[in-house]
Amino acid sequence: MKKLWGGRFTATAEEWVEEFGASISFDQELVLEDIEGSLAHVLMLEKCGIISKEDRNAIVTGLKELKESAVKDELTYSLELEDIHLNLESKLTNKIGPAGGKLHTARSRNDQVAVDMHLYLRREIEEIIGLIGEFQEALLSQAKDNIETIMPGYTHLQRAQPISFAHHLMAYFWMLDRDKQRLSEGLKRVNKSPLGAGALAGTTFPIDRHYTADLLGFDGIYENSLDAVSDRDFIIEFLSSSSIMMMHLSRLSEEMILWSTQEFGFIELDDRFATGSSIMPQKKNPDMAELIRGKTGRVYGSMIGLLTVLKGLPLAYNKDMQEDKEGMFDTVKTVKGSLKIFAGMINTMAVNKEAMGNAVKKDFSNATELADYLAGKGLPFREAHEVVGKLVLECIQRSCYLADLPIEEFKSASSLFEPDIYEVLSPYEAVKRRISSGGTGFSEVTAMIAKAEQTLKEK
Ligand code: ARG
Repeated sequence: MKKLWGGRFTATAEEWVEEFGASISFDQELVLEDIEGSLAHVLMLEKCGIISKEDRNAIVTGLKELKESAVKDELTYSLELEDIHLNLESKLTNKIGPAGGKLHTARSRNDQVAVDMHLYLRREIEEIIGLIGEFQEALLSQAKDNIETIMPGYTHLQRAQPISFAHHLMAYFWMLDRDKQRLSEGLKRVNKSPLGAGALAGTTFPIDRHYTADLLGFDGIYENSLDAVSDRDFIIEFLSSSSIMMMHLSRLSEEMILWSTQEFGFIELDDRFATGSSIMPQKKNPDMAELIRGKTGRVYGSMIGLLTVLKGLPLAYNKDMQEDKEGMFDTVKTVKGSLKIFAGMINTMAVNKEAMGNAVKKDFSNATELADYLAGKGLPFREAHEVVGKLVLECIQRSCYLADLPIEEFKSASSLFEPDIYEVLSPYEAVKRRISSGGTGFSEVTAMIAKAEQTLKEK
């Protein structure tokens, strides 16, 4: 097959060499964006008097037919034509004749591929932001059902202080909110048009870059043609925001995996989001959460991969940059899949409120309450800490918990103790009394949920 760039060549590469260089196996994902970009470009060419109305009409008709076939998934591509851009141009020319060859006037594949990826990421990021919202709804709805569900809060994975389960879930709500903000912020840079940069230097034709930018819904153009075709920052930013978000999802995965062990027994995943073992009949495995934790690695990998591809590249386009696509496509797919699975998992999980509540009765996570009690009565906190530490040690030696000690024991440890300490020791009271803003107290968590609902509505 004659190459579209074949003029100066006397020999063609063998098929295995072509295959190594081709991107059509993966960049066909950009088919609709490529057609959209071409439509805007051809309208501009005619408007600026660079091609005739007849040629424009022929090209527009041809591109629209190609779009219809693409939507129906009826297009087949050829490896010899390297990538989606050359494949589509060749199909267009086959359809409408030599006029098809005018489409590439004042354009290069370098600005063409860049515009395709900007359009692609804009659409996908908007979709991902929507999916984050759905996941946040799921967190909110579980939180609302669990404001007064008490669980152990941990530091160092050691029991620390009792908290509301809703409070724990809402921590993820706010992380996801920042993820959403990061992606929206990045969208500003995705939404700039590189089209019209040409190969690197601009063009001698009197094109109108603002016109194509408007047609494509971009809110501005790259100021520098070299930058426009060399820049992949917008993809790296997306990969980096996605990496941070996957890290959040991975942490929650880890917690869900722990919580659903027999040792914790805090939640049970719905059967629809768990799997069995081929040998051990009793098993119910949290595969989906494990997979999300695992897939976090490939998203990080794509980010590091692209940063590494770009670090040594001179301006402007280099073929290395073709390596920008697979990691981006893979990340979009991974992030969307993970968010959907997570929303389902959270919405359907069963919360074992009793197991959580029992857990905090059999531990020392109420020790801080005692220290606060003494400090509240004027004892310097350091001294209060020491008094309570000794009581804890006493309990450990006697195999009991703080609430099991008789009042006399408390009194001999400090005369400030009164019988009301037993109420103070109750985990429910401990949570309820945490009234500082953003803390785990029921009134705070309730207010936080209201604020979160408002935040979701505003977006
Ligand atoms: N398939 C190429 C890529 O994805 C398109 C741009 C090719 N440009 C070039 N000058 N060879 O990077």
